[in-house]
Amino acid sequence: MIRVFDTKEELGEAAVDLFVERNRVAKATFSVALAGGSTPKAVYELLAKPENANRVDWGKTMCFWGDERWVPPSDDQSNEGMARKALLDHVPISPSQIWPMFGVDETPEDGARRYETTLRGQFPNPDETFDLLLLGIGTDGHTASLFPGDRASLSADAWVVPTTSPAGVPQRLSLTPAALWAASLTVFMVVGPDKALPLSRVLTDGSDLPAAVVARNSRDVIWLLDREAASLVQF
Ligand code: 6PG
Repeated sequence: MIRVFDTKEELGEAAVDLFVERNRVAKATFSVALAGGSTPKAVYELLAKPENANRVDWGKTMCFWGDERWVPPSDDQSNEGMARKALLDHVPISPSQIWPMFGVDETPEDGARRYETTLRGQFPNPDETFDLLLLGIGTDGHTASLFPGDRASLSADAWVVPTTSPAGVPQRLSLTPAALWAASLTVFMVVGPDKALPLSRVLTDGSDLPAAVVARNSRDVIWLLDREAASLVQF
């Protein structure tokens, strides 16, 4: 499903409503995997507003990440740090229900093994992972920290792998398609004119860009787009 909004604010409201609805219908626990980036950040800040946060049962919410830059949460490049500042520090979620990717005194390889163990323990059925997976896409068609040309990560049986980013913080951890595809609902949030061309490529049949590989085999995908990002999409 593709939904196009006149403004990023309206897109953010729709993303918050999806979060609230998926949280409401979830049974014992509601597991969500967060993305990094400025688009997701704006959604987290909106969700943190009391009128929205009060619509969520944080007592059953389990918070994970789809990817991380391999820096401490105190670093302004950290996805964990961004999500804590924008959302998690402002809502009544127990620290024991937050599962960061970054580990102090760990290598990315160690972190990937630890996080894999965590996820396999949380999701014993490999065909069913998160209730809600939030993702963005980069201007190169990446999603999470799966970058174009990294075929090994796109085809890995592992759920968590160390990757290398061509821009920004080079050392990353990313969930692989094997973990991402098993989410109950995947929501891509794409905003701005610089995403129009990559998005049109991702939505072109047969694209091998990481965001296309993830979207194509996901159980259920909703694209939340603003008009600028959607401007080259062939409807
Ligand atoms: C990351 C993100 C990445 C992000 C996209 C979109 O760690 O950088 O997980 O996949 O979601 O690059 O980011 P923007 O919304 O800032 O363009």
